[in-house]
Amino acid sequence: MTPDLRVNLGRLQLRNPVMVAAGTFGYGLEYRDLIDLAQLGAIVTKSLTLTPRMGNPPPRVVETPAGMLNAIGLQNDGVEAFLRETLSRLRELGTPVIASVAGETLEEYVGVAVQLSRAEGVAAIELNLSCPNQARGGLEFGTDPDLTMQAVAAVRRATHLPLIAKLSPQVSDIVPIACAAVQAGADILCLTNTILGVAVDAHTRQFRLASKSGGLSGPAIKPIAQYHLWRVRQALPETPLIGVGGISSADDAIEFILLGAHAVQIGTANYVQPTLALEVGQGIEAYLRANGFDSVDAIRGVVY
Ligand SMILES: Cc1cc2nc3c(=O)[nH]c(=O)nc-3n(C[C@H](O)[C@H](O)[C@H](O)COP(=O)(O)O)c2cc1C
Repeated sequence: MTPDLRVNLGRLQLRNPVMVAAGTFGYGLEYRDLIDLAQLGAIVTKSLTLTPRMGNPPPRVVETPAGMLNAIGLQNDGVEAFLRETLSRLRELGTPVIASVAGETLEEYVGVAVQLSRAEGVAAIELNLSCPNQARGGLEFGTDPDLTMQAVAAVRRATHLPLIAKLSPQVSDIVPIACAAVQAGADILCLTNTILGVAVDAHTRQFRLASKSGGLSGPAIKPIAQYHLWRVRQALPETPLIGVGGISSADDAIEFILLGAHAVQIGTANYVQPTLALEVGQGIEAYLRANGFDSVDAIRGVVY
């Protein structure tokens, strides 16, 4: 018996539950010679903004115990260049392309989403809510239920595509924020983005990132992402969830599924092992087979 790896996240249907996470896999094509992109569950692009962005000055990534800090600052070519130069080549792969949308204002989120929605070949929009809101002195959209609701509602009005709200773990209670996102029209929730931190070099007596603070990712944050996903699963049992944070093995991914995730994303671990997403997919299949389960659905949410 070959276990069924297909998963349905409402209108978003994937051939397997393993995707690559926003910002950790370029636009996907950069990895073409290293991994068979056609076997991924989906490719999530780096976050796209209305105009091209250079990002922050280097150093903007630093290794930390069991993880890394990054302060890339949303470097990307802008949505127009993505549509003109990249999307058609991604479409040829046949792998669902999820476009990540960033913005510092509601207008920017909407502007990017409108352009993506007019294009051929975007399977879903993932809203990066860990962006600083200009109008609120840089407060991240995803740390406040009202701002989350405003951003999701504005993009919901602007697109017919399945809408994923990617939440920030930078909160004490994620449930009101998750509920606000769903109430505003998010079809799917993705948990979570990175957690703010700093790293200091004792010898140079300097911050190790040029912008001083950055987002922590990798195995160090796995229990935190799993905690948030588990709580949201209890509060919103009907909403499809994507788990992301510190996954570096099939077991890590299976843990998220057991806690209620429909699908998972691999981020930082792509830098260590670019083929990991495929190996995680194979590992999930082997686990299902070894334990007599006929599908991913059979193990979802059994740990609560
Ligand atoms: C270098 C780097 C760049 C990232 N860029 C983005 C981005 O553009 N948009 C986004 O939503 N998340 C971004 N993330 C967050 C990841 O998509 C992911 O949510 C986070 O790293 C946790 O997963 P991980 O521990 O598997 O890396 C980035 C993470 C890293 C390490």
